[in-house]
Amino acid sequence: MSSFREIKSYLNTKCKVKDDIFIYLPTLTDFQKKEIEFHENDRSNEKDVHQLNSLRNQYYHKLFSKYFNALKKESIILEIGVGIGYDLIPLLKKGFKVIATDISESTLKDLKNYINTNYSEYKENIIYLVSDGQNLPLKDNSIEAILIVATLHHFEDQNKLVTELKRVLDSGYLVLGMEPSKFMMSFTKLFKNSDKLRVHKGHSEADETHLGYLKSDFKKLGKVIRIKRVWLLLGFLHYFLEAIYRLFKLKKRIKIPLVIEYIFLVFDEILLSIPIINSINFHWLVVIKF
Ligand SMILES: C[S@@+](CC[C@H](N)C(=O)[O-])C[C@H]1O[C@@H](n2cnc3c(N)ncnc32)[C@H](O)[C@@H]1O
Repeated sequence: MSSFREIKSYLNTKCKVKDDIFIYLPTLTDFQKKEIEFHENDRSNEKDVHQLNSLRNQYYHKLFSKYFNALKKESIILEIGVGIGYDLIPLLKKGFKVIATDISESTLKDLKNYINTNYSEYKENIIYLVSDGQNLPLKDNSIEAILIVATLHHFEDQNKLVTELKRVLDSGYLVLGMEPSKFMMSFTKLFKNSDKLRVHKGHSEADETHLGYLKSDFKKLGKVIRIKRVWLLLGFLHYFLEAIYRLFKLKKRIKIPLVIEYIFLVFDEILLSIPIINSINFHWLVVIKF
């Protein structure tokens, strides 16, 4: 394992540095270029688009951040595809040091400004790294845990990604949060040709082409320590509310009373424990040990 200082000095030898952001993108495929282009246009109101402040998201995002509780304070976590940093802040609050990586430079620039303005007390505990998760400028066994949220399906070559993660991870876990299920990808693809239901112009190559995950897919990544199905009624509720907002061009997204959302969540937890019915889950939370 390396210290945060050692990682920074190693990055200094491997990367270009711009405004305290390390940049390491030796090559980019067309797929990656399209991903960058899409995410640079797309992230302006990410929190609102995905309703990240709703109970249905907060509950499950808190749940997977608990998977890091066994790590000691000051451990170094690598977050890949950090986006607007929604899951990064709870990790910083727990006292961890985080290498925040994303393939999009402007995403990291905005994240850095956001952290410096709103959470400046943590700014020494973050390294910003523009990099492809499949090719990281980090030493072997230098990281204690890895977090990937809603990003695994954005990789072109999953085997290459896993090989790279195994290389940089010491003995800790890979935590995957809110990865789409095969059911969810098939369900959302039913509406892909409707212009009225599209919120973004252009598209993410990965979102358009990925088939989503079955439980068995995660076994191919490593030893599955924990796996949880997420959202059933909540998934239908989420996409129904989103469809109403888009079709009727509402000014704001609909927020349902907390108590109703809570009831849906309790029902989901029951339904998702019943075999066969539970195959209608929208997302997965997974903890993997290599
Ligand atoms: C759907 S967003 C998820 C962002 C964040 N984790 C969240 O849950 O809000 C996917 C993120 O992965 C990033 N990304 C896509 N391909 C990547 C790659 N090859 N390496 C690293 N990050 C990548 C995108 O720029 C984007 O910020």
